[in-house]
Amino acid sequence: MDTTNAHTTARTLPTRRLGATGPEVSVLGLGCMGMSALYGEADRAESIATIHAALDAGVTLLDTGDFYGMGHNELLIDEALRTAPAGARERALTSVKFGALRTVEGGFTGYDGRPAAVKNFAAYSLQRLGADHIDVYRIARVDPDVPIEETVGAIAELVEAGHVRHIGLSEVGADTLRRAAAVAPIADLQIEYSLISRGIEEKILPTARELGIGITAYGVLSRGLISGHFSGDRALAPGDFRGMSPRFQGENLRHNLDLVERLREVAGRKGATVAQTAIAWVLSRGEDIVPLVGARRRDRLGEALGALDVTLDAADLAAIEEAVPAGAAAGDRYPQAQMAHLDSEH
Ligand SMILES: NC(=O)c1ccc[n+]([C@@H]2O[C@H](COP(=O)([O-])OP(=O)(O)OC[C@H]3O[C@@H](n4cnc5c(N)ncnc54)[C@H](OP(=O)(O)O)[C@@H]3O)[C@@H](O)[C@H]2O)c1
Repeated sequence: MDTTNAHTTARTLPTRRLGATGPEVSVLGLGCMGMSALYGEADRAESIATIHAALDAGVTLLDTGDFYGMGHNELLIDEALRTAPAGARERALTSVKFGALRTVEGGFTGYDGRPAAVKNFAAYSLQRLGADHIDVYRIARVDPDVPIEETVGAIAELVEAGHVRHIGLSEVGADTLRRAAAVAPIADLQIEYSLISRGIEEKILPTARELGIGITAYGVLSRGLISGHFSGDRALAPGDFRGMSPRFQGENLRHNLDLVERLREVAGRKGATVAQTAIAWVLSRGEDIVPLVGARRRDRLGEALGALDVTLDAADLAAIEEAVPAGAAAGDRYPQAQMAHLDSEH
């Protein structure tokens, strides 16, 4: 059946606002990266079916980057939205990262945050997304050669022109948050946050709260490591990020999977899965935090949505803290060269 123009009876999810000035979005967002890049081959039909299932379940926030598969991810989202029922399509909000420079072979060679580049990236993204605007637009990593004021200023001009609705940031520290917020309203900071990546708690999260900036948390399952589905004998495709990630190597991996087993015991007592417990933990950290889940299959999405039925009380949170204390993970969250690009880690 062609559902392109049919109005849907899609379910709704609770919503959270991205910061003081950002849009209201579903309490969980769908991160689409793994459907095009970084975690080995993905199945295109299943990816589209997963986006459709997410929209049907009430997910309204779709996160992507123009460099995820070098345009592939945006084209995938365009196809998914074009073939989704009209109501779901109209409710969908796109959150797009830009700025990464790539090689033909797929390498990453740096970031470009010059104003002219920002506008060029946006023009290409709008074309690939088949859209007249992007809902939240952000540079993936700060360009060390361009003051953040200039990059954010260029996005503010795109907002002025109607091509972008809201400005976001990604993986920046507290000082950069302040500098950016002095230029224009910032809706959200997208940054890694999970039971085993808690670096934002000390300085970045309090600063975001002071400035009225929301958080879209990524890596809430630490790229599958704390999903309960990862194991030491899993074969990874060449180019899979996890093949290079310090947390997935040798002794670090064994240590981190031991943490997962401790979490599995707590989850079991709640009648929840490990992944649901890890997502529910991020949800419990504040109404200003929206976890992105990186599901690329409908079964994984269904499991992730089940986290919304898991309520963690003070005793549960204490048990989780005991099982996986802050700082318990072994290994950095990125390889050394990529850590250097993280303004949030300086
Ligand atoms: N701003 C940034 O710097 C940045 C960086 C990275 C990602 N992101 C964004 O954040 C999104 C989420 O990041 P992520 O994909 O690394 O995070 P994630 O949600 O921590 O990990 C996703 C991986 O976990 C596994 N998984 C197992 N059970 C799952 C379940 N029930 N639901 C979802 N995934 C499950 C999946 O592997 P299998 O498919 O193999 O089961 C999937 O590849 C990305 O898609 C991207 O949009 C942003």
